Amino acid sequence: MLRVGIIGFGGAGQAHAFYWSCIAGCRVTKIFDPKPRAAARARDAAAGVTFCDDAAAFWPDLDAVVVCTPDRTHAGYIVDALGRGLHVLVEKPLCDSVDGLRAIRRAAAAAPAQVVAVVHQMRFVPLHQRIKALVDAGALGALSYLEGYYVHDLTSRAFQNDRWREADNATPLVYSGCHFVDLLRWLAGEEIVEVFAAAGHRAFPEYPESDLNVVTLRFASGVVGTVVVAFGEPGPQDHTVRVTGRDAAVRGNLLYRRDGRLGAVVHRPLIFQPALLAGAGKSGGQSRYRQLRTNLPPYVMARTVEMLRILARRPNAEYGAANYPVRLYEHSLACVGAINDFVGAIRERRQPMCSIAEAGRTVLACLAGVESYRTNRAVAVAELD
Ligand SMILES: NC(=O)c1ccc[n+]([C@@H]2O[C@H](COP(=O)([O-])OP(=O)(O)OC[C@H]3O[C@@H](n4cnc5c(N)ncnc54)[C@H](O)[C@@H]3O)[C@@H](O)[C@H]2O)c1
Repeated sequence: MLRVGIIGFGGAGQAHAFYWSCIAGCRVTKIFDPKPRAAARARDAAAGVTFCDDAAAFWPDLDAVVVCTPDRTHAGYIVDALGRGLHVLVEKPLCDSVDGLRAIRRAAAAAPAQVVAVVHQMRFVPLHQRIKALVDAGALGALSYLEGYYVHDLTSRAFQNDRWREADNATPLVYSGCHFVDLLRWLAGEEIVEVFAAAGHRAFPEYPESDLNVVTLRFASGVVGTVVVAFGEPGPQDHTVRVTGRDAAVRGNLLYRRDGRLGAVVHRPLIFQPALLAGAGKSGGQSRYRQLRTNLPPYVMARTVEMLRILARRPNAEYGAANYPVRLYEHSLACVGAINDFVGAIRERRQPMCSIAEAGRTVLACLAGVESYRTNRAVAVAELD
């Protein structure tokens, strides 16, 4: 049994208490959070798990920790945990500074048998995995453009559990844009060499520095990308992806070729998400019945609209059926996928998919983006070494 400790018990920490209950052979045995309000959250969301507000009591008798603390504190906790012989899973971003990245790499080099992985769950979203398979199989041809949206209305949530986003000036690009900078790097299979970014601060002025970051990415081969991060936009979360190649393009969930036909569906809503069924007590339901009740209606709607598209045969018409009707983003399933990869890396003594090197390059590209919008000039992305 892998004994796991959660560090930081706000939104992400509580979510991890559930995710880890889905992972065979693992158990969350301790939670550490120094802030008084966290104890009550732990009583509600993780009954039976030892809660510590004192780090000395937390560290013993663990095999791995999950770092769910403010971005600025990630590096310190990773270094500390590695020094104590523990494996580390850290919430994205790996860290928020070049100094932090250096410290993490030094500590990891001194602990080669321990696994460090980052929860970049976008790589584990089923739609994104299908897109990656299409890219790798050459189905899109040579890539030319990639785009990702991280649109998440944080106006009522940003400071719910803690004010670290304000105190630490957590820029949208490093804190959340990292999701799609990382995803686009992974889909493209190459590195971002230069970025140019802009920032706005009109939709959610209470958020520090800026609430809107738009960054263009230039990859080594000349492929261009865009990532939009918006914290103040009303509406449901939008994580749309677009990947364009010479022969075909994926827009959201539809694969378009040059034949003028309706787009082929890349992924459909999952009626059952078996990986979550073992999980304990999260609202939203983890019995087959509750999954069915939640997922069947959007599945039926999606299939119905898919079939009805035949009535509007030409997607290019003024009223062409050009988009998929359902948002597809299986957040918990993807996070559990990232955790399974981390646990697999420990058991099989291999690198995790989101290693320090991978996530470190994402951090460097995001930091270059912040420098770019602050200076209003294009910025070369620093190399990892
Ligand atoms: N993968 C994802 O989709 C995802 C989603 C949300 C958050 N995150 C990441 O998770 C981390 C936490 O974000 P959150 O939304 O849970 O924030 P939050 O504000 O909800 O909670 C932060 C928690 O950390 C605790 N904390 C503050 N300082 C601490 C310290 N020095 N040591 C230990 N605990 C401390 C606070 O008491 C609080 O419980 C961030 O790195 C964030 O980027 C990832």
